Amino acid sequence: MKIGIAADHGGFELKQIIQPFLLSLNHEVIDFGAYELNNLDDYPDYVIPLSKAVATKEVERGIAICGSGVGAAIVANKIRGVRASLINDHFSAHQGVEDDDMNLLCLGGRITGFAVAKELVKVFSESKFSGGEKYVRRLNKIINLEK
Ligand code: RB5
Repeated sequence: MKIGIAADHGGFELKQIIQPFLLSLNHEVIDFGAYELNNLDDYPDYVIPLSKAVATKEVERGIAICGSGVGAAIVANKIRGVRASLINDHFSAHQGVEDDDMNLLCLGGRITGFAVAKELVKVFSESKFSGGEKYVRRLNKIINLEK
């Protein structure tokens, strides 16, 4: 799967862990930055390009990391077609995809440890939208809202 990643300074260290991990799972990774640690950088500068790439399907899924994951989720969901959520637990990492067609995973680099973050990324990348009738119905209500 082609997966885009992005992080500000709060998520930079975790992004450096997640990128090779995704490659080890045989995913293709597009890095939207930051490319160096800059404690003054702003997460929208990286999360917006990533989110646009998810929306245009340049990448199939995205992973955005800031310090808490909150800002990344807020800005990502401003882009039409993006369904982003801050995820801290294994259940939500797969159920969010299966039921809600989540296409952008947000993580808190200062919240989630490396081992747990890897598990969340793995299960997110392996999960598929179920396509169940009630889930499609709910998704269509969100798509209509975006029109
Ligand atoms: C940056 O210091 C921090 O505010 C940011 O990474 C993120 O946590 C915002 O939600």
